Amino acid sequence: MKAVEVTAPGAALTLHERDVPEPGVGQIRIRVQACGVCHGDLMAVAGQHPRMQYPRIPGHEVIGTVDALGGGVDNWQVGERVGVGWRAGPRDVTGLTVNGGYAEYMLASATEAVHINPCWDTTVMAPLLCAGVTTFSALAHSSARPGDVVAILGIGGLGHLAIQIAQKSGYHTVALSHSPHKADLAKALGAHAFIDLSLGTAVQSLRDLGSARVILATAPQANIISQLIGGLAHNGELITVVGGSEPITVSPGEMLGRRLSVRGWRVDDPRELPAALSFSDLAGIVPRVETFPLEEADLAFHRMLNADVLFRAVLVP
Ligand SMILES: NC(=O)c1ccc[n+]([C@@H]2O[C@H](COP(=O)([O-])OP(=O)(O)OC[C@H]3O[C@@H](n4cnc5c(N)ncnc54)[C@H](OP(=O)(O)O)[C@@H]3O)[C@@H](O)[C@H]2O)c1
Ligand SMILES: [Zn+2]
Repeated sequence: MKAVEVTAPGAALTLHERDVPEPGVGQIRIRVQACGVCHGDLMAVAGQHPRMQYPRIPGHEVIGTVDALGGGVDNWQVGERVGVGWRAGPRDVTGLTVNGGYAEYMLASATEAVHINPCWDTTVMAPLLCAGVTTFSALAHSSARPGDVVAILGIGGLGHLAIQIAQKSGYHTVALSHSPHKADLAKALGAHAFIDLSLGTAVQSLRDLGSARVILATAPQANIISQLIGGLAHNGELITVVGGSEPITVSPGEMLGRRLSVRGWRVDDPRELPAALSFSDLAGIVPRVETFPLEEADLAFHRMLNADVLFRAVLVP
C-alpha cells in the first residue's frame, strides 16, 4: 500500500510502499477513503509525544470502509462505513502512538471506531472526526445559552466548524480572524459578525456586541488569546483547545471583577464522537475542504501550518 510517513522529528512527510497491515485480535482493517490534515498532526511531525516512535503514519480524521476483521470482532461487517478520530484506545492516539490514516489502509480498535452515515460524502465529512467533535464538545459543555454572544478565534479546520455549530446552537456567533479575506466566507458559514483582528480593535468590537459569554480559541496564539479576555462578559468563559507553551495571561483582579473562567478543552469521553456526528447530521454541519492526493501530503500539511487552506486539507488516497 501507499503510506505517508514521518521518519524522524521535523522530517518531511514522505510517501512509501508498505505491506498492508493484518488486523490483530479486536482490530479492524480500514480501506481509507479520506483523512483530514489537522494542526494536531504537528505533534507527530515534530515528535511532541513521549511515546512517539518513528517511522509513524500520521492522521486522525479518517473515514473509510471496513476491509477485514481481526479475531473476536463481532460489531463490524466488511464493507461498512467507518470513522476513526484521535482516540485509538484508553492509552493510544491515532497517528501518534499507533499508525493513522495518511495511507491506503490502517488498523483500528473495533470498539473505538464509529459508524458513519453511508450517505455522507466521505471526503467532505472526514474533518468531523477531530475538528468537528472537538469544537462540538467544547461548545456543548460551555455555559453559553441560545442568544449569548459566542466568539470563535481562528477560522481554520476547527474554527470554521465551530462557527457552524455555534450558529446552529442559537448563539450570536462572532468570528475573530487575522484573515480579512475570510469575512464573507465566515458569514456564509453562519457567523453573524466578523471581527478583523489586524485592526487592533477586537476587544471594543466585542464590547459593542454586548461582550462574549464564551470565547473559543482555536488559533494557537497565546498573546492574542490573552488580549481578547477583555472582551468577555460578566461570568464569561475563555475555552482554549490549542496547544503550545506560551502562557495565557490574565490578572486575578480582572478574573474576580467579572467572575471570569479560563479552561482548556479536549474530548475525553468516547461517547462524544457519535454525539457530534449525530448533531452534525441533524443540524447540517458540513466541512469545507480542499483535497490532496497522498503524494502531496507534505504540501497539504505545510499549507495548513501557514493557515493557507480553506478550511481543511483532506488527503484522498
Ligand atoms: N483540544 C483538542 O482536542 C484539539 C483537537 C484538534 C486540534 N487542536 C488544536 O487546535 C488548534 C487549531 O487546529 P486546526 O486544525 O483548526 O488548525 P488550522 O486549520 O491551522 O487553523 C488555525 C487557524 O488559526 C489562525 N492562526 C492565527 N495565527 C496562526 C498561526 N501562527 N499558525 C496557525 N494558525 C494561526 C488561522 O485562522 P485565521 O486566518 O482566521 O486567523 C488558522 O486558520 C491547533 O493548535 C491544534 O493543535 C486541539
Ligand atoms: Zn485533530
